[in-house]
Amino acid sequence: LPPQPPGPQGFTGAKLVDDAAHPWRPLRRGDIRGPCPGLNTLASHGYLPRDGVVTPAQLIVAVQEGLNFDHQTARVATYLAHLGDGNLVTDLISIGEKTTRTGPDPPRPAIVGGLNNHGTFEGDGSLTRGDFFDGDNHSFNQTLFDQFIEFSNRYGNGFYNLTVAAELRFRRIQQSIATNPTFSMVGLRHITIYGEATFPVNFFVDGRRTGAQAGQLSIPDATSFFRDMRFPRGFFRSATAGGATGADILFNAHPIQPGRNVGGVNNFVEDQSLGGILEPCRFYTQFVNTTIRGLYPRPTGVLRRNLIINAGFLYDALSPPDCPQVFPWGQL
Ligand code: HEM
Ligand code: MG
Repeated sequence: LPPQPPGPQGFTGAKLVDDAAHPWRPLRRGDIRGPCPGLNTLASHGYLPRDGVVTPAQLIVAVQEGLNFDHQTARVATYLAHLGDGNLVTDLISIGEKTTRTGPDPPRPAIVGGLNNHGTFEGDGSLTRGDFFDGDNHSFNQTLFDQFIEFSNRYGNGFYNLTVAAELRFRRIQQSIATNPTFSMVGLRHITIYGEATFPVNFFVDGRRTGAQAGQLSIPDATSFFRDMRFPRGFFRSATAGGATGADILFNAHPIQPGRNVGGVNNFVEDQSLGGILEPCRFYTQFVNTTIRGLYPRPTGVLRRNLIINAGFLYDALSPPDCPQVFPWGQL
């Protein structure tokens, strides 16, 4: 059976996470990294297996311990990722490219593509990664990071903060609408596109900073995480466990509804069918009934059992308000 999700941490304050037990090490041949600067950093410090092939339980422990994700955010992100990109039979997921190291694939149309897979979790308009359409949706992109710096200088006095995040988030969406004929921001991506832009503010700032310095990410520290996959030397994690606090501020600053380009660039058409940041219940329901069931239309045996269990872990973690659990593969 897939193990139950690990529990919350006992202590959730600031602490040294760049510690002797978790030294940064450069990549070895075959080590996998991907589109998430948080997970890349945790793997390069050994909070996650350094080869980048991990279990959901390891993800939950690592993001809580190393970067102070709260228990709910840790579980939600983990089971969304595992259902979309992981191997549900072996209980392994790649934090980057698809690999045989997650074990034998279930029958198509399952993908088991790892976090690099486009359209499950990974999506367009990332701050420091290009769009899939442009050829690389997972590597650090210096040109985009230069824009991150430019916006931090223009709107944040040289720091990335929520004001910068709101403007850069909007700019990246506009850029993708104007250049990517396949641009899509529906369902999960409508939620993560706003949520992820807050993470550098909430988690990449040293937890000892208080007052006016809280929530202000310096460019050297941002470079350390995004490019080098490394904690700044002597880094203390955030002083409180948290999640996507501030995502509503980013959305309300420039509210773009879920949607996609249809038939070419500059033709963004609203599409609420998979829900979005304002519709958590429709999002949950469609994610399980449409997105994941689309990958697993007729699972049998252990695969079916583990789908049901992992979808249950997701529902428990989300606990979407006034929203019934769905069972596209029946119940155990
Ligand atoms: C982006 C997965 C935890 C920070 C992403 C992306 C994925 C992902 C698939 C790419 C989405 C995209 O931009 O297209 C996960 C999973 C997590 C997790 C499954 C936990 C189980 C974290 C943590 C942090 C973090 C703990 C930092 C504290 C970020 C940031 C981005 C991102 C800042 C946006 C990168 C950009 O826009 O260039 N994550 N992540 N993530 N993640 Fe994570
Ligand atoms: Mg992306």
